[in-house]
Amino acid sequence: MKILGIESSCDETGAAIVQDGKTILSNVVASSAAMHQKYGGIVPEVAARKQLESIIPVLTEAMHGFSKDDIDAIAVTVGPGLIGSLLVGVETAKTLAFAWKKPIIPVNHVLAHMYAVFLENDQPVIPNSVQDPKHDKLPKFPAISLVVSGGHTELYLMKDEKTIKWLGGTLDDAAGECFDKCARLLGLPYPGGPQIAAKAEKHIPHYSSNEVKSLLNSSSHIRSNNIRLPRPMIDDESLNFSFSGLKTAVLREFNKLSDDQKHDSLIIAQFSHEIQESITDVLVAKTLKATTEHNVNSIIISGGVAANKRLSHKLSRSLPSGVSLRIPPPLLCVDSASYIAAYAFYHQKPIDWKQITATPHLSVEV
Ligand code: KG4
Ligand code: ZN
Repeated sequence: MKILGIESSCDETGAAIVQDGKTILSNVVASSAAMHQKYGGIVPEVAARKQLESIIPVLTEAMHGFSKDDIDAIAVTVGPGLIGSLLVGVETAKTLAFAWKKPIIPVNHVLAHMYAVFLENDQPVIPNSVQDPKHDKLPKFPAISLVVSGGHTELYLMKDEKTIKWLGGTLDDAAGECFDKCARLLGLPYPGGPQIAAKAEKHIPHYSSNEVKSLLNSSSHIRSNNIRLPRPMIDDESLNFSFSGLKTAVLREFNKLSDDQKHDSLIIAQFSHEIQESITDVLVAKTLKATTEHNVNSIIISGGVAANKRLSHKLSRSLPSGVSLRIPPPLLCVDSASYIAAYAFYHQKPIDWKQITATPHLSVEV
């Protein structure tokens, strides 16, 4: 079964054709992230205008080599997301469903993220647990699924490929949002996650006395090396998260610095390192807590922040025995229509095109 997926919930415009929920036949994404860089974040109006311009070229490219007769159904993200952005995809999908006389499947963007690991790719299973041959490369169920993106940080129990139960989520900012806001405080461009990850690599864990001597303003460097940020809710009983306090803590610490120090690349590196450590410590702790509580066979991480190498490194080092870790390759972590189509394969509930509506605050607590 070939499903044409359409995604436009945030600043990307995507169209993809996926066969049987796993084989990507085409996957085209246009992003307006570069346009948002000068504002330090997404400007909804700018995103929607860009999506209106991109949707037909993106669809045309995704359909290259295919005709409408090859397509069995259309899947479209109906929420959650920005209303102007969602409308672009939703109205396009409705038009196609009407004109082509195809069933249309509404998709929840956040739930769809986790189906990125169902798509065929060359990534190995981490570390090496034996896969059920029946499931091919599907994760072993039950699984804990962490969806961690710019708008969401949600933990789910996946009993099988169709049965999903929400366990907890962020009470305020999402992890990706926290990366983005902290990056902005440090003067780094949008999107902040990859920027912070790159700067964090330049941090120096421990200074030797020679290094300290060679630093121009050694006292400031030593102090910055000792930055310690909170790990919000890490010991809390629930499987919820809270990241807004972290951004405030970064602001408080950063404001203690002089203007020169604020532009010191080593200090930015130390801050980036500690921000990344704090966010990933919390994500790892909560995911492992859910894993133990629900006695699952695998962990699935998806969403833009799943591309964070430090997160996958920490998790793979602390996996309980017998539990495998599945993370999509970076291109399938960030927004695209490929997993919108994959999700729709497993949740085939087509509805009349007239009933499809963009729903910005669509609940993710299933
Ligand atoms: O899933 P996504 O593309 O869009 C949403 O649905 O939100 O996620 C975007 C988020 C941004 O906040 C971005 O900073 C973050 O994912 N991100 C990362 C990395 N790559 C993208 N965060 C940390 N480390 C990364 N390598
Ligand atoms: Zn997303």
